[in-house]
Amino acid sequence: MKVLVVGSGGREHALVWKLRQSPRVKKIFCAPGNAGIAHQASCVPIGAEDIDGLLHFARREKIDLTIVGPEAPLTGGIVDAFNRAGLNIFGPAKRAAGIEGSKAWAKELMAKYNIPTADYVIFDRPERAKDYVLSRGAPVVVKADGLAAGKGVKVCSTREEALLAISEIMEKKVFGRAGERVVIEEFLTGEEVSILAFTDGQAVLPMLAAQDHKQVYDHDQGPNTGGMGAYAPAPVCTPRIYEEALHKILLPAVRGLANEGCPYRGVLYAGLMVTEQGPKVLEFNARFGDPEAQPLLMLFQTDLVEICEAVLTGTLAGQSIRWADGAAVCVVLASGGYPGPYAKGRVIRGLDQVSDDIVIFHAGTALVDGQVVTAGGRVLGVTAVAKNIPEAIARAYEGVRNISFEGMHYRRDIGQKALKYLPPGE
Ligand code: AMP
Ligand code: GLY
Repeated sequence: MKVLVVGSGGREHALVWKLRQSPRVKKIFCAPGNAGIAHQASCVPIGAEDIDGLLHFARREKIDLTIVGPEAPLTGGIVDAFNRAGLNIFGPAKRAAGIEGSKAWAKELMAKYNIPTADYVIFDRPERAKDYVLSRGAPVVVKADGLAAGKGVKVCSTREEALLAISEIMEKKVFGRAGERVVIEEFLTGEEVSILAFTDGQAVLPMLAAQDHKQVYDHDQGPNTGGMGAYAPAPVCTPRIYEEALHKILLPAVRGLANEGCPYRGVLYAGLMVTEQGPKVLEFNARFGDPEAQPLLMLFQTDLVEICEAVLTGTLAGQSIRWADGAAVCVVLASGGYPGPYAKGRVIRGLDQVSDDIVIFHAGTALVDGQVVTAGGRVLGVTAVAKNIPEAIARAYEGVRNISFEGMHYRRDIGQKALKYLPPGE
C-alpha cells in the first residue's frame, strides 16, 4: 500500500521509520518531511496545514492510508475532508480533535463525565480573570483556550505572573484567537506521565506509559517547550495507576466523546499528573506526542498499519500490541535560544547512524547545498533502546556525543526521574 505521513517533526520521522518495517507498505510519502525523513520516504513540498493541497495529492497518488502527525490539520478538519472524499485517514475528525483544540471544551467534557482533572474556571473577559486571580491567589495555572504550539500554558507561582499571563494572552493576544478565552486552574503537584492510546471510538488500546521533559533546562527549570526528551516505559506509572488511568480517564473520555456525537478515532494522548489522589488530566492531545512517539515507536513490535486499520474499521477490540523488552530513551537536541527565538541554517555534524540500537530522528532539519542544517527549534531526537532505562540513557547520550552544531543545547537529565523507582541493581 501507499502511505502518506503528514508533518515534519521527530514524531513524523519515527512514524515513517516504523512504517518502513511493515511488509504491507510499498511506498511512503511525507508532507512536508525533513532532511532525515527524505532518506526513508519521498518528501513532497506540501505544508501540513494545507488541507486542500494534501487532499489533491492523496487523490492523485491514490494514497491508501494517510497518517496525520500534528494537531493543527486535525483541528482544521483534515480528517473530515479526506473522509468526504472517500480516503482512508488516521486521526480524529474536527469535532473530536476539539479535545486538544479547545482546553475549555476539554475541561467541560471532563467535568460532565467525571474525569479527574484540576479544578478550573473559564473566562472570556480579562477583567474577570484578573479579579479571580486576585481573590484566589497563587500558585495557579493560566491556559490559553486554543492551540498555541505548546506555549499557551503558564504555571504561575505569584499573582503578578498570573496577571501578566492573562494580559499577554487576552489583551496582547500573543496567541491570536487562541487567547479569546482562558482556563485558570488549580496547580497540581506530582510527577507527570503521558499515556497514549489507540481508539476506534469504542475500544481503547493503551500504549506503554511514557514521560516527557517539558522544561528547557535540567531539573525541570526554565520555560516549557514542546518536549526536550522522553522515555518509556515510565515506572512512575505503576500497574495500579495505569489501570486507574484506563478506567477513570481514557475509557470515560472515549465514551463521553461518542456520547457527545463525535466518536474519537486515532491516538488519544492523556497528559497526566500523578497526584496523591491518583492520576489527574493536565491535557488531552489528539495525536501522538512528540517526543513520546520516538521511544514508543522504537519499542513497538506490532505492524503499525494493522493497528491503524483496526482503528479505521472499528475492529480494535481484541487487538494487542507487542512491545520489545527493555526501555527506550530519546534526548532532544535543540537550537540555541529555543524555546525563544533561534537561528536556522547551522550545519549539523556527526549524523552518521552508528549502530542499530540508536536512531537519530530528525525534527527541525533541512538539506541545503548538500548539507544537513538546522531548520527548527527542536532539531534532532537521539533515541536508544536497551535492556533497561539506565542503559538506554547511557546509549542515548553516547549517540549525542558524536553530534554537534553551533548553539546546540540539550538536557543532561533525561530519564533520571525513573531511576528512583527501579529495583537495586538495574
Ligand atoms: P498542558 O499543555 O496543558 O499539558 O500544560 C503544559 C505543562 O504545564 C504540563 O505538562 C505541566 O508541566 C504544566 N501544567 C499544566 N497544567 C498544570 C496544572 N494544573 N498544575 C501543574 N502544572 C501544570
Ligand atoms: N510532548 C508533548 C506533546 O506532544 O504535546
